Amino acid sequence: MALPAELFGVIGFPLAQTMSPLLHNWAFERAGLAGVYMAWQIPPEKLADFFTAVRTLPIQGGNITIPHKVAAMSLLDEVSSGAGSAGAVNVFYWEQGRLCGENTDVPGFLSPIRKRSFRSALVLGAGGASRAVLTALKEMGVPDIAVTNRTAGKADALAAEFGVHHFPWTDRAHSGADLIINSTSQGMKDKDSENSPFPKEGFKGKGLAYDIIYNPLETRFLKEARDSGWDIQDGLAMFVEQARESFRIWNKGGDLPPDAAAALVKEKLAL
Ligand code: ATR
Repeated sequence: MALPAELFGVIGFPLAQTMSPLLHNWAFERAGLAGVYMAWQIPPEKLADFFTAVRTLPIQGGNITIPHKVAAMSLLDEVSSGAGSAGAVNVFYWEQGRLCGENTDVPGFLSPIRKRSFRSALVLGAGGASRAVLTALKEMGVPDIAVTNRTAGKADALAAEFGVHHFPWTDRAHSGADLIINSTSQGMKDKDSENSPFPKEGFKGKGLAYDIIYNPLETRFLKEARDSGWDIQDGLAMFVEQARESFRIWNKGGDLPPDAAAALVKEKLAL
């Protein structure tokens, strides 16, 4: 008789673009585990109902994406200190009967840049994703960190919470940072993807432009940075690494091989 399947999934709203089911179902099969990973589109007003369902149905864990990463915190029994300081969760799992949350976006974001060092960083955006980015930059010890956002009040609040600078949105091309990160949703497939949240003339000298978007792999933000002689980093490594850490948490050390995983996602993106 086949093993009873364990149920996992990602929640978000909307959820059309997610590659998480592809990646995790592949990893479960590869590891010989009886896991099934689904995509559950949950609107914000149903988030609390969803976690009630998790406590009722045999759901073993999952990922949390836009726009639920902050709101989900209060619906869990416990969050890790890392997720607590980020103020956002992207993974949930069961531990001794308690529903727990973790933030694997932080190590995911750091994975491709761990060996580099930067003088100053400018974070574009002040939503849930920006929290993981700011946590990671502080962990990395970047000496000068600033956040900028179209809606100034959100950047102001985030800057105060994280003890970083708030840089005015209208001046963002003149920050002088050698690491510029797009953590806005502008540039994402089907979300204003032909535009960039950063003016091209702002890529002066040398630096790294890091877009946490992975679909498309080359956003306009990255293309303009590269054309200006900057190094670029797309969001695929972060996506794969956060998934890998999630898979480890659910499967107590089970691995999701990153190179093969990245190739799988790239192949799907090219279709
Ligand atoms: P996430 O969880 O991915 O961070 P979010 O909390 O909805 O999602 O935040 C989206 C971020 O992208 C916000 O910083 C948003 O700016 P506002 O706070 O001004 O809304 C930013 N954003 C989205 N579309 C944008 C656009 N066209 N130009 C500039 N910033 C944009």
